[in-house]
Amino acid sequence: MTKITSICCIGAGYVGGPTMAVVAKQCPHIKVTIVDLNEARIAAWNDVDVNNIPVYEPGLSEVVAEARGRNLFFSTDVDRAIEEAEMVFISVNTPTKTYGAGKGMGADLKWIELCARQIARVSKTDKIIVEKSTLPVRTAEAVRDILHNTGNGVNFQVLSNPEFLAEGTAVDDLLNPDRVLIGGDANPEGQEAVQALVDVYANWIPRERILTTNVWSSELSKLVANAYLAQRISSINSISELCEKTEANVNEVARAIGTDSRIGPKFLKASVGFGGSCFQKDILNLVYISRSFGLQEVADYWEQVIIMNDHQKKRFALNIVKDLYNTVSGKKIAFLGWAFKKDTNDTRESAAIYVADELLNEQATIQVYDPKVEDKQIYADLDYLGTRSPDLNKKGVTVSEDPYAACADAHAIAVLTEWDEFIDYDWQRIYDGMLKPAKIFDGRNILDHKKLRAIGFKVSGIGM
Ligand code: NAI
Repeated sequence: MTKITSICCIGAGYVGGPTMAVVAKQCPHIKVTIVDLNEARIAAWNDVDVNNIPVYEPGLSEVVAEARGRNLFFSTDVDRAIEEAEMVFISVNTPTKTYGAGKGMGADLKWIELCARQIARVSKTDKIIVEKSTLPVRTAEAVRDILHNTGNGVNFQVLSNPEFLAEGTAVDDLLNPDRVLIGGDANPEGQEAVQALVDVYANWIPRERILTTNVWSSELSKLVANAYLAQRISSINSISELCEKTEANVNEVARAIGTDSRIGPKFLKASVGFGGSCFQKDILNLVYISRSFGLQEVADYWEQVIIMNDHQKKRFALNIVKDLYNTVSGKKIAFLGWAFKKDTNDTRESAAIYVADELLNEQATIQVYDPKVEDKQIYADLDYLGTRSPDLNKKGVTVSEDPYAACADAHAIAVLTEWDEFIDYDWQRIYDGMLKPAKIFDGRNILDHKKLRAIGFKVSGIGM
């Protein structure tokens, strides 16, 4: 039986970093080395001040502080870490393709292929390769092909072990997951590799929560899990628009349907739309795969989740314009929140980016406050869209480190992220500093609307 004593993880991002830090914390007998090509990122993971690690997650700096230097290491020496390890996790980015066939739909697997080729070139001993990145179903076939055709004659087993953590609760999710999924080959060598990975997780996770399947079910399950989650958000968001026309209240509808145990209460919160690096990318990938098999109806069904989400973001922005007397030109709008959700500094695909873009098209001026996102990230997100020049983005958007300053002299406030601290602000003070009528567009339905109206605000929520 293979007993794992040394793990390498390629990719020190939002998944590789927290996941492997928790493995190291829970398995002091296993040496875990996380490697990345990005020198600045590795330097930040190694920063003497553990509060400067590059991923913000509640509880993560404590986990890193406990394990780093003991059995957790961060390095840019990828070759060495691969060669030393018995098990290599691939946790690199797999974004939507921006060129060629499948542009805007399929996953770009170039980083996965580079990893496979590097592992093949460097390895001089047998290894278990674990797909941690989210991948199109049947990617393991390509990885296996590369490993076996370009390697040094050593044996590789390829497992799929997708990650289900949610940003913002990553450490809790990793310490106490609903389940861990491991896909491997049915033959004895495949099953031995599966067992080796089961044994790693079994150091802290009850065995009945570790599910094993074939490789293809595992790869596909990750795409399907994200599609189902996003679908629930788009479903309730579609109802929010209907609520706004009918005097129904989406929070009441969500509570009424969520108490049905077949539906369940989670993921029924209407909002300005989902963001994050995964939902859109993974659904597009599912749509692309379905189309490539000629499954038009399947593809169209899931694509609608994205169409609805785009509509929700745009609708939110256009409602602001409409409510501000059909023009926001030259008006200041304060954004509370830029991250795609609370308790993370990740902004990828955040609804805030798209709402800002729409409002900038209408010549609004925007001032952003987010407790964890830096100004350079905000400008990078807008510049990435390519709608206007970086100079114009800088002209239209300013970033404030103080929420009260961000809201001062604004015509309206838009809540884009559900950070808890927004709820407890001194809203009277904010009201006093704003232009009148002072408007709030609560894109997360987190504020106390009754209280705000009593102060004098004109409040619009989602779906009410
Ligand atoms: P990320 O972009 O934060 O991190 C990926 C890292 O891999 C980057 O730091 C990059 O420099 C590094 N990298 C790329 N190619 C490399 C190579 N050849 N050698 C060394 N380093 C290399 O991405 P993130 O968010 O960690 O996602 C990774 C994968 O996990 C993706 O497939 C994603 O879909 C999946 N996933 C993400 C979740 C999330 O919440 N962010 C949740 C579950 C899965």
